[in-house]
Amino acid sequence: MARKTLIAGNWKMNGLKKDAKALAGGLARKMAALRKKGGRANFEMLICPPFPLLGLAAEAVKGSGIRVGAQDCHAEASGAHTGDTSAQLIKNAGASYAIVGHSERRTDHAETDREIKAKAEAALAAGLKVIVCIGETLKERKAGQTLNVNRKQLRGSLPAGATAANTVIAYEPVWAIGTGQVATPEQAQEVHAAIRKALKSKLGPAEAGKMRILYGGSMKPGNADELLSQPDIDGGLIGGASLTVKDFWGIAEAV
Ligand code: PGA
Repeated sequence: MARKTLIAGNWKMNGLKKDAKALAGGLARKMAALRKKGGRANFEMLICPPFPLLGLAAEAVKGSGIRVGAQDCHAEASGAHTGDTSAQLIKNAGASYAIVGHSERRTDHAETDREIKAKAEAALAAGLKVIVCIGETLKERKAGQTLNVNRKQLRGSLPAGATAANTVIAYEPVWAIGTGQVATPEQAQEVHAAIRKALKSKLGPAEAGKMRILYGGSMKPGNADELLSQPDIDGGLIGGASLTVKDFWGIAEAV
């Protein structure tokens, strides 16, 4: 089943306007250079800057094929929610994706599977595609709970109406995020295969076979190749290494 590899950058709370312009513009120029050489990207590229930089990033990548996404969205379409951002506004700012359920939001903002599901549904209702993040902690892994935890989070946070066209899953073991301690290709593949199996029973074999499952957690140019060559790893959700053109493009080159 052909699944187009998605290379997604999660900038987290990093960068100012000038950095976003340089990074998004630099990636757009790489894409243009690839095209000029007669090449066609065999991957889809996505950058997810902080909210206030969405419009600027969308402008900087215009015409390059690179997509822009947000790192979160609110579950309601509008209303009295000080400090929050609606999926509609994210779309209006020029983005086409929203990440929901990142472990940093699950931890820092005590987000539950139920809330994440509602956010994902709001994103779909606004016409965005959604990246639903799941992943176990080191404690859960050590307790032999890895597959159970991931299946439970997947069950709880997968939006109603999820299809391979509008939903992407990101497996991000919490112990691998920002630590430099990357999951081995075998560890990652084991969980990705279990996620696909769970998707099969929920959505049927056709959708599950087409749905992309990204790996996230200390992915770098040096380890991307072996991770991305696993049968059920369909791309990466990249934090630290998405903050420079050299590293992020280096990961895309591994596809
Ligand atoms: P990292 O972050 O690549 O810096 O480990 C990944 C993520 O949290 O999405």
